[in-house]
Amino acid sequence: MNLLIMGPPGSGKGTQSKLVVEKYGLVHISTGDIFRKAIKEKSELGHLAKSYIEKGEYVPDDIVCEVIEDRLAEDDCKNGFLLDGFPRTIYQAVKLEQMLEKLNKKIDHVLKIDVDPYVLVKRRAGRRVCSNCGSSYHLEFKPPVTKGACDKCGHAIVQRADDTEETAFKRLDIYLKSTYPLVEYYDAKELLRNIHGFGTIERVFFRINRELEKYDNH
Ligand code: AP5
Ligand code: MG
Repeated sequence: MNLLIMGPPGSGKGTQSKLVVEKYGLVHISTGDIFRKAIKEKSELGHLAKSYIEKGEYVPDDIVCEVIEDRLAEDDCKNGFLLDGFPRTIYQAVKLEQMLEKLNKKIDHVLKIDVDPYVLVKRRAGRRVCSNCGSSYHLEFKPPVTKGACDKCGHAIVQRADDTEETAFKRLDIYLKSTYPLVEYYDAKELLRNIHGFGTIERVFFRINRELEKYDNH
């Protein structure tokens, strides 16, 4: 099974992706995570991506597409993958289709997480990520066992550089203008699965499973 997850910044894509890939044995491909890792490693890609991400802007389509094309060709994608944060523009979606055609693959479902803007602000404001391994937490909804430290590696948890109030609004605005048109694009292909994103992490995951099982039975 090959999946795609979309939704506004802070809607819970990364959080749900972790649970979905574990349950269904898929590879998690998050463009945001790939860029943050590249920035940390100070690679050429990281250098390119940094200026855009910190301003809350999208990285240029061609750079992102190249990253994904290389990643999808890797061996571990053979048994299914979940794309988180890609595609984000119609251009990227068309490119993705061409890449998958070459690999003789297709997307089976597009999970769209819907969340109220008020909830988004709250989720993003409380988000903390590990400065070392990138694991994600929330001060109120998913706190680490030890205050301020990552459960997995013990390093300090920090606020993401693009989680400032200023970039938060800019990111939502860009999402609505550039990414939201994908809803119609995938709806026309009958791939869109709407998931209510309110409620607890477990509740949202339950809805995703219910949706996927529905299609599994047909
Ligand atoms: P990316 O990292 O993908 O950021 P994003 O889309 O802005 O989404 P987020 O990661 O901020 O939110 P999320 O939906 O994953 O929510 P999370 O699970 O963390 O991309 C970053 C940047 O990279 C982009 O802005 C762009 O510059 C660039 N980029 C990436 N891909 C690109 C592309 N294709 N093209 C161009 N540029 C690209 O949850 C948020 C918080 O809420 C967490 O603290 C979590 O614990 C908590 N939470 C989650 N679910 C719940 C729940 N149900 N109840 C309570 N709390 C919850
Ligand atoms: Mg994310």
